[in-house]
Amino acid sequence: MLSIRNIGKTYPNGTAALREITLDVGAGEIVAVVGGSGSGKSTLLRLISGLDHPTSGTIDVDGTRIVAPHPAVGIVFQEPRLLPWLTVEGNVGFGLAHLSRPERRHRVHQALKRVGLADYALRWPRELSGGQSQRVAIARALVARPSVILLDEPFSALDAFTRVELQDHLLEIWADTRPTLVLVTHDIEEAVALASRVVVLRPFPGRVAQVSDVKLARPRDRLSHSFDDEKRAILSALDTTLARRAPPAA
Ligand SMILES: Nc1ncnc2c1ncn2[C@@H]1O[C@H](COP(=O)(O)OP(=O)(O)OP(=O)(O)O)[C@@H](O)[C@H]1O
Ligand SMILES: [Mg+2]
Repeated sequence: MLSIRNIGKTYPNGTAALREITLDVGAGEIVAVVGGSGSGKSTLLRLISGLDHPTSGTIDVDGTRIVAPHPAVGIVFQEPRLLPWLTVEGNVGFGLAHLSRPERRHRVHQALKRVGLADYALRWPRELSGGQSQRVAIARALVARPSVILLDEPFSALDAFTRVELQDHLLEIWADTRPTLVLVTHDIEEAVALASRVVVLRPFPGRVAQVSDVKLARPRDRLSHSFDDEKRAILSALDTTLARRAPPAA
């Protein structure tokens, strides 16, 4: 369980990125976060990951206060951020130096198998497609067996076909071990396809404008009318936040 309490974040330059964010995400839940550019989505994920600190408020994962990067929380960024001088295997196992070699190999191969890249362990990052690289980044997040995985627009750099393929793949991985997922996306269809709840943020400063349940059974049919209805509801909430957006203070 991820518990976010009254989070505020003001950057040292005075930018108020987030104000009074409170959100509980249940164990095994998938929550999507959408919102206009600058509404604080990436900031929120960085705070949950422990890579940055809130100015006020608290974040707990399974009762543990997050004050620094923690093995219970994994993160996948928009770009795969693979280390070019390490093989796929080396990249995925990078954070497991504390484990014995056989245990590390076992974990790495398990994670690569789960993302469908069992045969790619010895490849170099430059030999991978964009979609494959992002799968490696997901394997790297999975390998530490986190209870929460944060994804910041993980598929936005991919073509539409690969994107849908990886979304479905992410759902399979999720169904396997049921980690909690927090997915930042600007793709409303992605949010409705994956999430059980969609959080709409409003910018300047980033606040929660709306939280809506996606009341669709799984597997979800992207072509159904009810899918369209859910998309439209989120789009209209998003429209409201953008129309009412106040310009940032000069
Ligand atoms: N390191 C930083 N220092 C100062 N201000 C920052 C920093 N990072 C982000 N900001 C500001 O904080 C606000 C929120 O930024 P953030 O990157 O979280 O938005 P976002 O919702 O992820 O936007 P996008 O959709 O464009 O990725 C913006 O106004 C941004 O300019
Ligand atoms: Mg961002």
